[in-house]
Amino acid sequence: MASNRLLLLPGDGIGPEIMEEVKKVIGWFNERTADTFEFDEGLVGGAAYDAHGASISEEDMAKAKAADAVIFGAVGGPKWDDVPYDVRPEAGLLRLRKDLGLFANLRPAICYPALADASSLKKDVIEGLDILIVRELTGGVYFGEPKTITDLENGQQRAIDTQVYDTYEIERIAGVAFDLARARRNKVTSMEKRNVMKSGVLWNQVVTATHDKSYKDVELEHMLADAGGMQLVRWPKQFDVIVCDNLFGDMLSDVAAMLTGSLGMLPSASLGAPDAATGKRKALYEPVHGSAPDIAGTGAANPIAMIASFAMALRYSFNMITEADMLEKAISNALDKGLRTKDIAQGDQATISTKEMGNAIVGELEALATSA
Ligand code: NAD
Ligand code: IPM
Ligand code: MN
Repeated sequence: MASNRLLLLPGDGIGPEIMEEVKKVIGWFNERTADTFEFDEGLVGGAAYDAHGASISEEDMAKAKAADAVIFGAVGGPKWDDVPYDVRPEAGLLRLRKDLGLFANLRPAICYPALADASSLKKDVIEGLDILIVRELTGGVYFGEPKTITDLENGQQRAIDTQVYDTYEIERIAGVAFDLARARRNKVTSMEKRNVMKSGVLWNQVVTATHDKSYKDVELEHMLADAGGMQLVRWPKQFDVIVCDNLFGDMLSDVAAMLTGSLGMLPSASLGAPDAATGKRKALYEPVHGSAPDIAGTGAANPIAMIASFAMALRYSFNMITEADMLEKAISNALDKGLRTKDIAQGDQATISTKEMGNAIVGELEALATSA
């Protein structure tokens, strides 16, 4: 009997293409390891809108709540540019995050040795890079009310988005960042804009108080988020764990992605609070990139961010640490052999397709298992 229940939500654009490669990896683990997975599939984003007129159906929401982990591809695309705002593809993802309580988004940016030349930055700036962005995911301007566009008497319109943070939201994300830092290089950089935003003032105070109360052994530094963006491209290796709000985390993680060579390389884990009775967390694993409409259907999508997101599921949802290490090693080995999808190829280096990269990573898994 499979004990680990996954819900796969491939979504739109390259989402289904990269999900096929994760299925190969899941299939490999099902054949090879005692811990097996069972999975169900659902629709999200534009695919769900086309089928049900909603960005995710109630049935699929219920499946997501019942699953041990959701594996999410990507949503969105020009086809749905004109659908009503409330049912736009991205709303399905935001609902999953909010309704599952996935407040902690972990976005590691690692420079694989073989890709040290693939970044637009100089090799010595990114070689050996290993940083972790911890993004608050269920609060801030993404969800704050009011969020409106209203007509004014003068014929103009006014748009309002509202940044809201309560103490407990900042405390719990800071706690996640400090806990993770303890298992890494023991340093947290908190980024906000306390010079302009009240939420930045509170963020700064609460992170400091959380540190002083329970995490004095961890080094804490504060940085204004705009300067933090600059430092990320100037000398990213100064960072270990970066903690920030929802919007800054969205932007800074795209910046961090390019340090690693391509958006197609960056995985993420979105985690809820541990259940009081079982200790289990709700979780969703997704690449940082989107549905890449410009390359969808061409076989050029890099499946590594998606496959590395599954490695994070092994690590954070199923405590399969050896298997997670092995999958990450398989990715690294495929890269060491010079295998490149188009986004990470250099100059006239030969490229392979999405499927070929997926097959190569499964081949490397097999090689690692055989040699163990
Ligand atoms: P994007 O991340 O989809 O693409 C940005 C660029 O990166 C494109 O040139 C794309 O080809 C490239 N890229 C992205 N992933 C890649 C991969 N795996 N392999 C190779 N190249 C890759 O961002 P965008 O174009 O701004 O957004 C497109 C749509 O995706 C929008 O509707 C947006 O809302 C949505 N989006 C969804 C998610 C998500 O589902 N989690 C995340 C970001 C954007
Ligand atoms: C991400 C994406 C999402 C976000 C969109 C698709 C809602 O950009 O996961 O980084 O803004 O959080
Ligand atoms: Mn984003």
